[in-house]
Amino acid sequence: MRDEPILKISSLDKFRGKTQVLHGIDLELYAGERLALLGHNGAGKSTLIKSVLGLINAEGGTISICGARPGTGAARVATAFLPEAVSFHPALTGFEQLKTFARLSGEKPDIAALLQRVGLGEAMHRRIGAYSKGMRQRLGLAQVLLGRPKLALLDEPTSGLDPISRQDLYAIIDELAAQGTAVLIASHALTEVEARTDRIAIMRKGSKVADDTLAGLSAQAGLPVKLRLRASGDQADRIALETGGRRINGASVEILCTPQDKMAELRRIAALGDAVVDIDMVPPRLDDLYRHYSNEELN
Ligand SMILES: Nc1ncnc2c1ncn2[C@@H]1O[C@H](COP(=O)(O)OP(=O)(O)O)[C@@H](O)[C@H]1O
Ligand SMILES: [Mg+2]
Repeated sequence: MRDEPILKISSLDKFRGKTQVLHGIDLELYAGERLALLGHNGAGKSTLIKSVLGLINAEGGTISICGARPGTGAARVATAFLPEAVSFHPALTGFEQLKTFARLSGEKPDIAALLQRVGLGEAMHRRIGAYSKGMRQRLGLAQVLLGRPKLALLDEPTSGLDPISRQDLYAIIDELAAQGTAVLIASHALTEVEARTDRIAIMRKGSKVADDTLAGLSAQAGLPVKLRLRASGDQADRIALETGGRRINGASVEILCTPQDKMAELRRIAALGDAVVDIDMVPPRLDDLYRHYSNEELN
């Protein structure tokens, strides 16, 4: 049987004035799991995170962090948070900031090594006031790593990072998950989370509209899989005709089919024998799925 979740959110409702901004959210997150929480701006991702942190009170539902309520001492010890815009005292150096943080949290880490780890080795003795947004994010990540939290909440951690530092970021997220931390990554940028998370939850106007693995979401959405065939010699036209596919550049034919029909389609293609020299299968991308789940009109 699976262990208890690190984070368990049940039927969470939140109002801002008369507007309901969270609608009965249920969400569970387990040790070592990496969850992408996706949604357009205003979907409610930050509100959900602030509720988990106990920074705001929800009007309905419950949240448990390792069995503790948000904002309690036990929940705070278990949780690390990387806010959307990380702010530190500008006069401190990165090294000083981490040292102060380590003292407060009772840890005795190798601070220089930690700063090296997040790519701030060169800059660690410079004032934070001179750091770029990406560098402040890295310093924030160093703090998250230092705390060895049970739960890490990262709100738009890639905003302000260039593509290479995104790779660094995801390497650090993997490291957190490998040490058993449950990691929630809120993001409105999609493509980068595709390969990097275990599960994807999608929010739309305060409701959770999807929550599954990428493969699971694909199957539920029923979006077409693309089969791309390369024909031998001058067979492309004939193959397109026989399969109902579309001729694309050179000797290729593209067929769209539902996930359910995929195996039958593959068998039909195999029966074409030597006329087909190669085949690529292109599953729907997270972009397509995201569009499907975040925009579709729900009853
Ligand atoms: N401090 C606030 N006061 C009033 N409304 C807010 C506040 N913060 C967020 N909201 C509203 O709550 C909704 C969800 O916002 P938010 O959680 O920030 O979304 P996301 O992080 O997904 O972009 C939006 O409609 C937003 O306008
Ligand atoms: Mg937000």
